[in-house]
Amino acid sequence: MSAPNIETIVSLSKRRGFVYPASEIYGGLGSSWDYGPLGVELANNIKKSWWNWLVYERDDIEGIDSSILQNRLVWKYSGHEDTFSDPLVDCRECKSRLRQDKLDQDAEGKYVCSNCGSTDLTDPRPFNLMFRTTIGAVSDDDDPMALAYLRPETAQGIFANFANVLNTSRRKLPFGIAQIGKAFRNEVTPGNFIFRTREFEQMELEYFVKPDEAAGAHQDWIDGFDEWIRSLGISGENLKHYEQSKHELAHYAERTVDILYRFFPEREDEEKQWDELMGIANRTDYDLRVHSKKPEDADGKRINPDSTEDLSYFDTATNERFYPYIIEPSVGVNRTLLAVMMDAYTERTNDKGETRVIMKLTPQLAPIKVAVLPLAKNKPEIVEMARRLKKDLQPSMRAIYDDTGGIGKLYARQDEIGTPFCVTVDHESLEDNAVTVRHRDTWEQERISAEQLKGFLQEKLDV
Ligand code: GAP
Repeated sequence: MSAPNIETIVSLSKRRGFVYPASEIYGGLGSSWDYGPLGVELANNIKKSWWNWLVYERDDIEGIDSSILQNRLVWKYSGHEDTFSDPLVDCRECKSRLRQDKLDQDAEGKYVCSNCGSTDLTDPRPFNLMFRTTIGAVSDDDDPMALAYLRPETAQGIFANFANVLNTSRRKLPFGIAQIGKAFRNEVTPGNFIFRTREFEQMELEYFVKPDEAAGAHQDWIDGFDEWIRSLGISGENLKHYEQSKHELAHYAERTVDILYRFFPEREDEEKQWDELMGIANRTDYDLRVHSKKPEDADGKRINPDSTEDLSYFDTATNERFYPYIIEPSVGVNRTLLAVMMDAYTERTNDKGETRVIMKLTPQLAPIKVAVLPLAKNKPEIVEMARRLKKDLQPSMRAIYDDTGGIGKLYARQDEIGTPFCVTVDHESLEDNAVTVRHRDTWEQERISAEQLKGFLQEKLDV
């Protein structure tokens, strides 16, 4: 089972402290969300999984953290100033502002307003998605010398640092640079909770390869990321691959495969249940060429007269110089978190006929690994033992102590936030120095000696 719709996750998130509407006390701000105590843990665990898998477990990837604000020229030569736009149309009937490329067409090929069904729409006009800002104490907000953008992707900070990382880490192809960070896009139609927002977080890998090895490396990364997503507990039934057609491909890409997740299971039309979780592109040698000082156009003019670096690579084995191809797996933290939560959602009926929510998060992702619960909070020895156990566990795993309700309620609360284990300290514990460990997914309980508790949990949780 997974969540029947995104709304179910929206309300669970608000109720339990995963995600709240931003600026709620002032009526909110369209499509902005804040991550609460559990949401920030879950997001951090997703980022840790990605970073560990790429930067720590492999030997060919370095990490960086580049600025959100870059020299405007980065966005000029990357092509974002000219082409990073969506086709905007207005509906003359209901006045909605829409993205033409997301609209259905009628039998005559006319675009249909997704709000009121009218086909009376304006012609499309490009709307640049980059957020503009000014740098320094300027009097005129339109001063072109002060203009800067909030980065719309983390990738360009990696390309701009290609030579720095290559030289300081003494890498040889193939190798990659990984980065996690915020990105900003003034989306025309944000929505569906954290699926599409104007501020979001990306995890991007740029993997540099020899041109003739690009196609093979691309396929390897498609397969690799498919596996990584499944390792987060997402079921294969809710995943599929989508090969972008020639007319959908970005101008720099040779091939792009999107991994789609079933974000909208409630939709009748099966085709419309899916949307992009991540994209894996073969960006060719476009990026390192456009940011380099050397390449020339057909008339012998430098393509980039502003760059001070040549980002080509010299292969000492073949004595050849060339611009590496780039394979780019790019995935949103927020979209991954939404997919993880939707997929983990299950319901179970207890013997009193009550429906309980269980979030079957993998132990690696669960915000809290273990909750230590005293059976009687008015018995100081039980409370003391429970607090001591929590303290012993905390350095190795995220553990909490909770005595704010009856045991049934406490178990239900932990199930709903995906805590894999609850440990209960009862009157007998004082006699036999043992505790009850309850398993989230089966509701089975077993008695474990207090001495063996940490080792038992570490083994089960793999921490
Ligand atoms: N550097 C390539 C790039 O940025 P993209 O397909 O535009 O490619 C990559 O974005 C991923 O970032 C998406 O697959 C999605 O997971 C996430 N993403 C993009 N725009 C987003 C938005 N407005 N809100 C949330 N996540 C977004």
